[in-house]
Amino acid sequence: TKMQICHDIASFRQARANVHKGLTVGYVPTMGGLHEGHISLIQQARKQCDVVVSSVFVNPAQFGPNEDFDKYPRTFDADMAKLGENGVDIVFVPQTKDMYLPEHRVYVDPVGFDDVPEGKCRPGFFRGVATVVTKLFNIVAPTHAFFGQKDAVQCVVIKRIIEDLNFPIELKVLKTKREENGLAMSTRNQYLSPAERTASAVIYAGLKSAQDLFKNATTSSIPAATLRDNIESIYRSEPLLNDIQYISIASKETMDELTDVDTTAGAIISVAVKVGNCRLIDNIGL
Ligand code: PAJ
Repeated sequence: TKMQICHDIASFRQARANVHKGLTVGYVPTMGGLHEGHISLIQQARKQCDVVVSSVFVNPAQFGPNEDFDKYPRTFDADMAKLGENGVDIVFVPQTKDMYLPEHRVYVDPVGFDDVPEGKCRPGFFRGVATVVTKLFNIVAPTHAFFGQKDAVQCVVIKRIIEDLNFPIELKVLKTKREENGLAMSTRNQYLSPAERTASAVIYAGLKSAQDLFKNATTSSIPAATLRDNIESIYRSEPLLNDIQYISIASKETMDELTDVDTTAGAIISVAVKVGNCRLIDNIGL
């Protein structure tokens, strides 16, 4: 059966109301510019749920004043083709003016997330994400929601939204889809020149190197500084990587920064760097 495309909230609610009660509804929110990372989420939703819903909405509330909201890739026709081919049943493509009325005043504020390294780099970002995802959850009313581990802190924010605001939604976090050279797929990779794309392989290579150090540790804990220095020296060897914004080594549960990584508890290493003018993030679990 053909994919339904709903451009406004009322028509989406109508389509949603036509889904039989008792069926599971898997939801994959996106900002479009779809790539194989997004498609891997769609495919998992298709496998695990009766009905698959996706959305494409470039959310102005999560872009900073000096960020790329105007330049962000908008590839509507290609996106609809990919979603259709992968068995999406309903796609929600709202307009900005309907999602944010002139009188819009209520935001969802995930406390403390502007203080984690990614939040410090993008103040207000997680508030923007939390606000739009809460709105989308209220409109879509999924039973299951699928997010990518690539955006590690975002996944923690979504978990907090579901628990703290009592959404009856099962969260599924799926592993990061990568290019052949290890580069995490991202809509923003389109901003990279061919040389920069090649150079960006160093991001995951550094994370893997630290993971190997950790795996080979013979002590019960390893200093975070040892892991950080290892990654930093690898990143400094790549001339096209011109800014290391952070190398965070944090608890998997709380995302609190660690000074020592317990060999059994592990950690998550997250990085943000600039290659050329493009800001790239990635992470790995230990
Ligand atoms: P967007 O960047 O379009 O990503 C949509 C979903 O795809 C997110 O869950 C993201 O983590 C996941 N994703 C991105 N790259 C991936 C990769 N290489 N492998 C696996 N999954 C990947 O994240 C957002 O949009 C927005 O913040 C949104 C949640 C839609 C709210 O506006």
